[in-house]
Amino acid sequence: MRRKLVAGNWKMHGSLAENQALLGALKAALNGLQGAGVAVCAPFPYLAQLQAELSGTTLAWGAQNVSEHAKGAFTGEVSTSMLKDFGCTYAIVGHSERRSLYGESDETVAKKFMAAQAAGLIPILCVGETLAEREGNITEQVVGRQLDAVINAAGVEALAKAVVAYEPVWAIGTGKTATPGQAQAVHAFIRGKIAGLNKAAADGLVIQYGGSVKAANAAELFSQPDIDGGLIGGASLIADEFIAICKAAA
Ligand code: PGA
Repeated sequence: MRRKLVAGNWKMHGSLAENQALLGALKAALNGLQGAGVAVCAPFPYLAQLQAELSGTTLAWGAQNVSEHAKGAFTGEVSTSMLKDFGCTYAIVGHSERRSLYGESDETVAKKFMAAQAAGLIPILCVGETLAEREGNITEQVVGRQLDAVINAAGVEALAKAVVAYEPVWAIGTGKTATPGQAQAVHAFIRGKIAGLNKAAADGLVIQYGGSVKAANAAELFSQPDIDGGLIGGASLIADEFIAICKAAA
């Protein structure tokens, strides 16, 4: 049985004071939660705060992006070893906002994925189609291409030590959730594609769903056979919502 994983993606939100309150509530409700892993991914400046607050709990933490380079003249970038210094377990790579707003290509995302794994981080690889791509019936082609970039660069076995987050771009922050059936269909496609190359990697792969997950729809999404938890944006900033989502996965 795959363990479910719920990860919060705070995006560019938070302050020391707000985070303190949120983390306090999460720790009180979720430390020791059985049956599902819980993680939060914060902006870089707050990773030290996560380390201070969450060390010694069952909650893990991570970053929302990472450089593909180890060190050097890359102004504004943050390396995998820096994330390790602050106790990160996870690094999100290839979020659709990084791909669309910051021009990250499939190849760059694959490099970030490999750099994260080489440093002992677990990459959360985001894939997903835009509304136009869905309406053009090329969802599987797009998601397949995004996966292939990583499989070709890192090998399919690498996915056994990673998390994939299926996040249809049209569902992110829009309040439009994919129906459980729509999400399950793409999750099954992802697992089937990987199973065709390596069954063990596919069976063990945690595939999260992301895109307007909230307390009210989490349980139904997570009950689908190939949905192994969620990557949660907006609702991860509201303690009661995020706690309920994590409990729905457990
Ligand atoms: P959302 O964001 O839950 O606010 O739709 C999900 C994400 O972008 O990771």
